[in-house]
Amino acid sequence: MKADIHSHILCGIDDGARNLEETAAILRFLHQSGVTHLAFTPHYYPSQQPLARFLEKRQAAFEQVLTLPEAKHFAFSLGAEVYFTPALMNQEDLSDLCYSGTNLMLTELETKDRFSSAMKSRLTQLLDLYGIRPVLAHIDRYDFLKKDVRLLSELQDMGCLFQVNLSAFSSFFSSMKMISLAKKGFLDFLGEDLHRVPRSPAGREAMLERLEKKSRDMVRQADREALNRIFR
Ligand SMILES: [Fe+2]
Repeated sequence: MKADIHSHILCGIDDGARNLEETAAILRFLHQSGVTHLAFTPHYYPSQQPLARFLEKRQAAFEQVLTLPEAKHFAFSLGAEVYFTPALMNQEDLSDLCYSGTNLMLTELETKDRFSSAMKSRLTQLLDLYGIRPVLAHIDRYDFLKKDVRLLSELQDMGCLFQVNLSAFSSFFSSMKMISLAKKGFLDFLGEDLHRVPRSPAGREAMLERLEKKSRDMVRQADREALNRIFR
């Protein structure tokens, strides 16, 4: 995997990297594993923090990263993992939460239980009023999504895109499920959602190797999508 569109590597802004040393360690790790394009997507919780304050903190954290020698190995994109609550819609302009220079926003659904009509109308609002396309974060975590191809199809027709976490491929059954959804066209992007250097780099490496072997096209396709749509 060359492009990772979901990470918590900026330090001091969310529950990700705790200091700049940790940020540097994660960047070294990703560089060694072959990642060349990396998006920073710190959590943004609309009801907890004014948007302007979040953007200031994100910019300061990003500028710190750029001082690191490890930064030269990557092309970066700056985004956010936006918690998709009604409070978000109180903002007039959400474009700064999209991946740099795009109208794509990594969107974290606020429930794990079910998809509600309120959520659907908010997604429609995001698309129609704000002109923003939601990239639904880690769809592998939501049973109500991954078990419902009709719903995925409906969301796709509306304009939603889908991101899957690498961890979804670490167990056999989950992996089979996600590969099958990818074959049906419901996987646009991959991300690792890293908060720390992985506890077992060797295990992760083995999992990635298996994935590349089994579904090389899927990984290549996700890389291509990321390069074309996010790291333009
Ligand atoms: Fe995340």
